[in-house]
Amino acid sequence: MAAPFDLTRLLPADHFDAALRHDVRTGLTADPKWLPPKWFYDARGSELFEQITRLPEYYPTRAERAILTARAAEAAAATRARTLVELGSGSSEKTRLLLDALRDLGTLESYVPVDVSESALREAGDALAAEYPGLAVHALVSDFTATLALPPTRGPRLVAFLGGTLGNLLPDERAAFLAALRRELEPGDSLLVGTDLVKDPAVLVAAYDDAAGVTAAFDRNVLHVVNRGLDADFDPDAFAHVAHWNAANEWIEMRLRSLREQTVKIRDLDLAVPFAEGEELRTEVSAKFRRRGITAELAAAGLELVHWWTDPEERFGLSLATPADRDGAARDAAAPGGDS
Ligand code: SAH
Ligand code: AVI
Repeated sequence: MAAPFDLTRLLPADHFDAALRHDVRTGLTADPKWLPPKWFYDARGSELFEQITRLPEYYPTRAERAILTARAAEAAAATRARTLVELGSGSSEKTRLLLDALRDLGTLESYVPVDVSESALREAGDALAAEYPGLAVHALVSDFTATLALPPTRGPRLVAFLGGTLGNLLPDERAAFLAALRRELEPGDSLLVGTDLVKDPAVLVAAYDDAAGVTAAFDRNVLHVVNRGLDADFDPDAFAHVAHWNAANEWIEMRLRSLREQTVKIRDLDLAVPFAEGEELRTEVSAKFRRRGITAELAAAGLELVHWWTDPEERFGLSLATPADRDGAARDAAAPGGDS
């Protein structure tokens, strides 16, 4: 049966294979070793992330949902979007709050979820097509760090980037990503970006090292992805999950610590990767933000913050930004003022 929504693979068929080869060779021959976090998200990784969002220790999803519950109508009124584009959409679960608000306003025509995880897009697309009859859903399998070509749907467009996924990019990658996104935006378009905020390190570390071990399984999942994708022989049980607060950079680092001296073979790369006992492989950075920092990063990319919303406990921030004019003034669309 045909899917009740469009799904387009935006990148050439061999893109992900070539990118995995490149990233694994680069990251596992570096000192210290690292891998980019986008490789967590095969079907099992996407499912493990959904489990993470329900853990008692993992507050960001609940905090962002609280903000959206309170502010989606305001965001809708400020943007009057016809098209909602969502980067790293995953299950699109919180997105329903934005879709509902735009539908209630009467402007919503189409939804464009963009994700590297085809399984997540298919599951979300099936559910949304049933829940929102009349809504055109055009899913895009893509890597937003490789290409950001937004579809030529009718504006105004609201680009949502929720969950704090911006913080999974390194500072240079964030700057390049925001600048590329700014180039895609037209007058009247807006960006809604969710960022986790700096807080007590004990709360942060617990959120990334839960008692049930779900985050540990998510972390080790990248080793399964490399084993399958490149015929490697990682023993995931030979690595311990570590969540480390890097105070200087204000980010959480997830790492996999080798429990013994071992050599991993990556057969498709003809590569042998030695690990010393205790050696760590960095698998993710999850940056935590402050209002001033995210405002400055947006401004550096030519985006002006027009609304800043947080949950009552100020655990998570949601920024609504619009393309700035050359003199720095906000264009139009959103209501004036940067309320908190
Ligand atoms: N927005 C959802 C999901 C966040 S999990 C939420 O707030 O709960 C991060 C999502 O981004 C995953 O679905 C993952 O597959 C996707 N993702 C990670 N890196 C990506 C990249 N480079 N390009 C596209 N999608 C990416
Ligand atoms: C998707 N991203 C914002 C999550 C985060 O919190 O950085 C991924 C994650 N990593 C561990 N737990 C959740």
